Amino acid sequence: MSVTAVRLVEVGARDGLQNEARTLAPEVRAELIRRLADAGLRHIEAGAFVSPRWVPQMAGTDTVLEKLPGDGDVTFSVLVPNERGMAMALESGCREVAVFTAASEAFNQRNINCSIDESLARFEPVLAAAKENGVAVRGYVSCVLGCPYSGPIPIADVVRTATRLYQMGCYEVSLGDTIGAGVPTGVRDLVSACAMEMPVARLAAHFHDTWGMATANCVAALEGGIRVFDSSVSGLGGCPYSPGATGNVATEDLIYLFEGMGLDTGADLGGVVAAGAFVDQRLGRETASRVARAWRARHGAA
Ligand code: HMG
Ligand code: MG
Repeated sequence: MSVTAVRLVEVGARDGLQNEARTLAPEVRAELIRRLADAGLRHIEAGAFVSPRWVPQMAGTDTVLEKLPGDGDVTFSVLVPNERGMAMALESGCREVAVFTAASEAFNQRNINCSIDESLARFEPVLAAAKENGVAVRGYVSCVLGCPYSGPIPIADVVRTATRLYQMGCYEVSLGDTIGAGVPTGVRDLVSACAMEMPVARLAAHFHDTWGMATANCVAALEGGIRVFDSSVSGLGGCPYSPGATGNVATEDLIYLFEGMGLDTGADLGGVVAAGAFVDQRLGRETASRVARAWRARHGAA
């Protein structure tokens, strides 16, 4: 069957903002998310119920959710690291959460203060509560193409962790190149190895653009059969436990890429560029998206 569409998961309001030096108020984050939804994005990560001491930028995620429309066709998901976060997500009426672990022990210790096995054990009650409440759970594996602390990561370690998340009940597992170290050949090998152990339709790709390889890596993932891509408006962010990592691949870049390839993303490039200008202005930063810059050069400031 030929591919006609891809699904974008917008992570700028979480993965992006969690790493910006300036913390935005929940009202501003909610306004950004509403603008992204107005631009056609249908799956948006709205925040994280994590320790505010560890990631102060995500404090007030409950307030963000309160300010979002609850009855539309947009999925607003949140990150939860443990049962406590899951309880907060349920209290806020979330219909989807994401759990997160890594293929690297060193990274997991620094990110969530436990081993990979301990993190998976923490997810058991989260998945049980999700099942009981009809909440969908997405899983993340970080450091799939390299770790900032321990270097290269064996593909088998990624496959093992991704498969475990899937078997535990995650409907989709997002493969995160947390430090943006990968290149297309590595992506191809990784996706084909994972796809031997779980359905490729249950995999998503999550690339950071540290070395400028993220769009090339998305094409490699697409060729490997992946149809779901995480991205961040204006290329916001990075990862607080991954020194030197820059933001996710920009949503604008993926819209231009995929629409140009004849694949429907459902999103309006001009609307996303405008949402990016809104958040960049609040953060006092320049966009990291080449496509956003080119769009503004042609159409004027958003
Ligand atoms: P800990 O210190 O080991 O755990 O942290 P703890 O149970 O001892 O709790 C410490 C404090 O946090 C306590 O409060 C708890 O009550 C509180 P205190 O007594 O100190 O006042 N606490 C919580 N507060 C709010 N929400 C919760 C929660 N749980 C405990 N859910 C913990 C363990 C997991 C909590 C901590 O390490 C943490 O929050 N880490 C978050 C790290 C994070 O958000 N990283 C970024 C997301 S991952 C990522 O970006 C990668 C990804 O994008 C994919 C990729 O690119 O690879 C997904
Ligand atoms: Mg990330």
